[in-house]
Amino acid sequence: METISRFLLPGSLLLLVYVFGFWVSTLGKPYHGLLFNLHKLIALGAVILGVIRVSNLLKDANIQFVMIALAAVCVLCIVVLFATGALMSVGRLRHAPLLIIHRIALTALPLAVTSMLYFLTGGK
Ligand code: HEM
Repeated sequence: METISRFLLPGSLLLLVYVFGFWVSTLGKPYHGLLFNLHKLIALGAVILGVIRVSNLLKDANIQFVMIALAAVCVLCIVVLFATGALMSVGRLRHAPLLIIHRIALTALPLAVTSMLYFLTGGK
């Protein structure tokens, strides 16, 4: 329960990132400036807060291989989301493949995060 409450704020921020992401996407190009900036800045805030909370939990956890693998997937997804997001906004590369990669990473991220929390809380 305590673990869940620790992740309430980063989780809600992440939810907002998804809401703004779909909103920006629906309005299309050129991207709505305010919504696009909210999307990326809230993403940055959610990532920073999430990393702080997870590293606090990891301090007192018995780290297993599965945790390292899941943490690596999360880091990879975050890097890919920021890179493809930035490239889509610049608009120099083909948009469709970047959006597909952004979508794969945004689907994999919550799966990896929830699995990590599941293992961190000992499956309770
Ligand atoms: C935790 C990080 C992030 C998540 C979870 C996320 C999630 C999303 C979601 C759900 C969409 C809607 C996709 C769709 O229509 O299927 C989206 C679109 C978009 N995101 Fe992100 N995003 C993240 C980070 C970023 C960052 C850092 C940037 C910019 C630097 C960015 C730029 C964009 C752009 C430009 C679109 C619109 C794509 C389009 O339809 O043309 N995203 N994002």
